[in-house]
Amino acid sequence: MSLSGRQLVVGLSGGVSCYKVPNLVRLLYKDGASVQVIMTAAATKFITPLTLESVSQQPVAVKMFPEDEYVATRHIDYSDWAELIIIAPATANFMGKIATGISDDLLTTVVTAHRNPILIAPAMNPGMWENPVTQKNYNYLKELGHKFVDPVEGEMACDHEGVGRMAEPEEIFEAIKAQLSSLKVKKKSLSGKKVLITAGPTREKIDAVRFISNYSSGKMGYALAQAAIELGAETTLISGPSSLAPPSGAKFIPIESTEQLYQAVTKEFANTDCLIMAAAPSDFKPENEASEKIKRNSNGLKLLLQPTVDILKSLSNGKRKSQLVIGFALETSDAIANATKKLNEKNLDAIVVNKVSTTTGFNTDSNQVTFIARNNQPEQWKLMSKLETSRKILEKVSSMI
Ligand SMILES: Cc1cc2nc3c(=O)[nH]c(=O)nc-3n(C[C@H](O)[C@H](O)[C@H](O)COP(=O)(O)O)c2cc1C
Repeated sequence: MSLSGRQLVVGLSGGVSCYKVPNLVRLLYKDGASVQVIMTAAATKFITPLTLESVSQQPVAVKMFPEDEYVATRHIDYSDWAELIIIAPATANFMGKIATGISDDLLTTVVTAHRNPILIAPAMNPGMWENPVTQKNYNYLKELGHKFVDPVEGEMACDHEGVGRMAEPEEIFEAIKAQLSSLKVKKKSLSGKKVLITAGPTREKIDAVRFISNYSSGKMGYALAQAAIELGAETTLISGPSSLAPPSGAKFIPIESTEQLYQAVTKEFANTDCLIMAAAPSDFKPENEASEKIKRNSNGLKLLLQPTVDILKSLSNGKRKSQLVIGFALETSDAIANATKKLNEKNLDAIVVNKVSTTTGFNTDSNQVTFIARNNQPEQWKLMSKLETSRKILEKVSSMI
């Protein structure tokens, strides 16, 4: 059973075994799961959020009330989103809190709000584990239906002997798979639908070693592909050069130039229910590509550029009624007016408008967009991570498709 598109919250509370959790998250991510990591404040003393961000490819959440982020009711959003919550390691303190309904930080609150059984991997000193209060909490949580990957005997940081060492990541990984296979899979809103997403920049060759390109990182398109997979869509990602790993579960087609992008999209489009063009293709390309490296000279160099093919326009004019085409517009001024014009001219069903700033647009992790569906008022969305923005876009797609 693959974890492609499965939605997991991995929560860490504060114990030495936090060091094992990046391995667990890596196993989950490599198997195709979307993993949202949440840490208690104590857990961040043992391992940095950055490490877990690197292996989950998502921002890690820690604070219930961060000063610098708009988070609203994200404790409920995470809780609703997760098919399964895994607590690894679970401290004695954390087990005690969730057994009594204490919700005094983000992770405990997400657990309290969650309606399904969770999976708990305790880790603690044998004295803490054998403590009757811990055992009472353990048995009570089991009675409530929560599942455990029990701690084992073995070497421990505190040098004490007995049971308390957290199970190994591979064992927890297998327990997660077993638990997921026992859950009824909800029919997802894009099951049976084919979604085609383009991402990243293009490169237009000047000579054998140089090209024209832009700052696009591919982050938005890759996040869209992940969100489409989460909703059960058969997802194809066509991408220009990017350092990102394609989400597992997507059919991946790498391209380099705008012409290659055009060829690849045209080939896939007929067989697609929804196309989202998040790539940043070049509008111009050198009229002539030199086969050798152009030599330095003191007179300078004039490059003659010609327009590249307008992919969106060419495809959306011939689209079937049942097909959705969504474009992206990156505007530096008059954003809404220019994007609405593009929506109409290119016969799009919706357009997502980005502004370029330090927190939005190229190569950032967050985005603040305006979503304009045809014949609808523009909706200005709050600043969110690119994945959260993508999930909202894909929810729109499911309602429109
Ligand atoms: C070095 C060190 C290691 C610890 N290891 C554990 C542990 O493995 N298990 C545990 O239950 N508590 C452990 N603790 C205690 C917890 O960090 C402490 O109870 C903390 O309040 C837990 O907070 P949390 O449950 O919100 O993460 C350790 C503390 C220190 C200083």
